[in-house]
Amino acid sequence: MKKKNNYKVTLIILIIITIILFSFIIYLLFFKKPSNNKVLDNKKDEETINIDNNIEDYEDIGEDDNISLFESQDYYIENNLDRYIAYQTLNPSKNIDEVITDVNCNIDRSFYTDPVASNLDDGTLLIVNKYHSLSSDYVPSLVTMEDGYTNVKGAKMQPEAYEHYKQMVDDAKLEGITLYNVSAYRSYSLQNTLYTNYVKRDGVDAADRYSARPGYSEHQTGLASDINTASSKAHFENSLEYSWLNSNAYKYGFILRYPENKEYLTGYKFEPWHYRYVGVDVATYIYEHNITFDEYYAYFIENN
Ligand code: DAL
Ligand code: ZN
Repeated sequence: MKKKNNYKVTLIILIIITIILFSFIIYLLFFKKPSNNKVLDNKKDEETINIDNNIEDYEDIGEDDNISLFESQDYYIENNLDRYIAYQTLNPSKNIDEVITDVNCNIDRSFYTDPVASNLDDGTLLIVNKYHSLSSDYVPSLVTMEDGYTNVKGAKMQPEAYEHYKQMVDDAKLEGITLYNVSAYRSYSLQNTLYTNYVKRDGVDAADRYSARPGYSEHQTGLASDINTASSKAHFENSLEYSWLNSNAYKYGFILRYPENKEYLTGYKFEPWHYRYVGVDVATYIYEHNITFDEYYAYFIENN
């Protein structure tokens, strides 16, 4: 009887030991967290992997990637690639979009130094800016503006531009907005007189910010008109007339040629009164994309 009891006790002890061992194994396998050192070690591994990835990313952005980054941008011009790269190196704080815009507008070159002759075949898309100039004897075909559209007797514009101008003025009038020209076509010699006087009054640097040098004025194209004023003191930008032009001029083919905050591209301070005829389609594109004519011309005309 005693032997039988001993056997029973031994069996129970064995079962208990087996259960304890089995539970311990389960605990180790599924519930025990790794030691702190192990966590740190794992983290270290992850970081090492990340650093390695970063190095790879960095090494991957080589010249080819930089080129394809340029290529993927709106308004990328293949011929300008070397200039984009050089300009970016000199201006590391500029983003890729700014680099493209600036170089397309020739901002990597100085004003007036190597001007190209404006291409007279461009018709109503003729560009005149600080990089493209007209000869002293260039005179477009012109018509004289009628009273009611100008307060300057004998003012002239190119015929197509004038037709659209009249329509714009007439339609504005129906909405109670009065628009009239104060300066349209200006000959080379008139521009010379104006610019020379401004330089005498304000000095070259100041004059260059608001007046074109002779041969560099859009007024010589007969495609531009200063509307209602030509003075920043008038604060035309705060008027209802300006607001109307801002929303409607493009429908008649006119663009605001020297917008606010674009002096670094156009070379001129904001001129809320200076409108330039480029035709309805181009004016609409420029208006909708909020770009300057200089940008449009570089991408769609000069490099096509
Ligand atoms: N005020 C403009 C820039 C001109 O003189 O043509
Ligand atoms: Zn003007």
